[in-house]
Amino acid sequence: MSEAPNRNLALDLVRVTESAALAAGRWMGRGQKEAGDGAAVEAMRLMLSTIDMKGLVVIGEGAKDEAPMLFDGEIVGNGLGPAVDVAVDPVEGTSLLAHGRPDAISVVGVAPRGTMWSPGPAFYMDKLVAGNAAREVFSSELLNSPTSKKLAVIAEALGKAVNDLTVFVLDKPRHQGLIQEIRETGARVLLRTDGDVAGALMAVMPKSGVDVLMGIGGTPEGVIAACAVRALGGVMLGQLAPQKADEREAVQAAGLDLDCVLTECDLVKSDDVFFAATGITDGVLMPGVHYSGNGATTVSLVMRGRTGTVRTIQAAHRWDKLMAVSQIQY
Ligand code: FBP
Repeated sequence: MSEAPNRNLALDLVRVTESAALAAGRWMGRGQKEAGDGAAVEAMRLMLSTIDMKGLVVIGEGAKDEAPMLFDGEIVGNGLGPAVDVAVDPVEGTSLLAHGRPDAISVVGVAPRGTMWSPGPAFYMDKLVAGNAAREVFSSELLNSPTSKKLAVIAEALGKAVNDLTVFVLDKPRHQGLIQEIRETGARVLLRTDGDVAGALMAVMPKSGVDVLMGIGGTPEGVIAACAVRALGGVMLGQLAPQKADEREAVQAAGLDLDCVLTECDLVKSDDVFFAATGITDGVLMPGVHYSGNGATTVSLVMRGRTGTVRTIQAAHRWDKLMAVSQIQY
């Protein structure tokens, strides 16, 4: 029996990421990470207050005492709609933005209340992400197998040779060995200083030119990426990978299992997930904010997990109209 579809919250959420991107875009290449992030946080929080939801920030800007806005545990939305968990990253890639590098994006994910995994004190996670064609081979053993085996198995599942693969890796000292191992297989490498949520999106989206994301990045970013991976129908594995002794101790004290391999379905336990992302700087995923003097343009990706619909939304914003009604001066 058919039923009327529920509201697609992602179509409202795109106004949230657009607003954050418009505010943050002014800070491109100006070397001030905090200022760009702060502008985006303020704009995002204001727009979130207009959304029909009883939102609880599960992945936010940090603990309440560190983050005045969009802190973990903050209630957001206008309190009228469904009870949901909310994951935000007003600027994913604050350094990318500060240096004018590609693929700084603004992102929001929403899923039913209680369905998003809470990272607690876990900062870092080892991640493996690919498109749906790799689903059959994505097992916990795969995450812990040698790099050459991982890439051989994934390449076969994708119907490619290993040297046809492009692998997204964060360019961090901790990945020196991993990058070397990937290069030895003959696969191509896309190195980025930051932004593994964008990397996960690339790994899942057809035609991005990226087939796989590998390596250790932020745990909160892992949950945000899982929202998009679920909405896009890709596959993801993640395992906590503390980088320092105090993180390891805190993770263990919190009762989190370091051996457990989580999938995108563990990280977000419902397919009723909504995800929106807007480009801040030009990138592989989408163009960034372009300012024209009397306005600006934005490009966003909008996804709904339940239906699998993925939309690209181009928006033209007019200052003469917008500034008359907006509390944010873009
Ligand atoms: P920010 O936007 O908070 O600066 O995070 C960027 C990022 O590169 C993430 O994409 C990634 O998951 C994480 O930082 C990696 O952390 P680190 O830079 O400490 O290795």
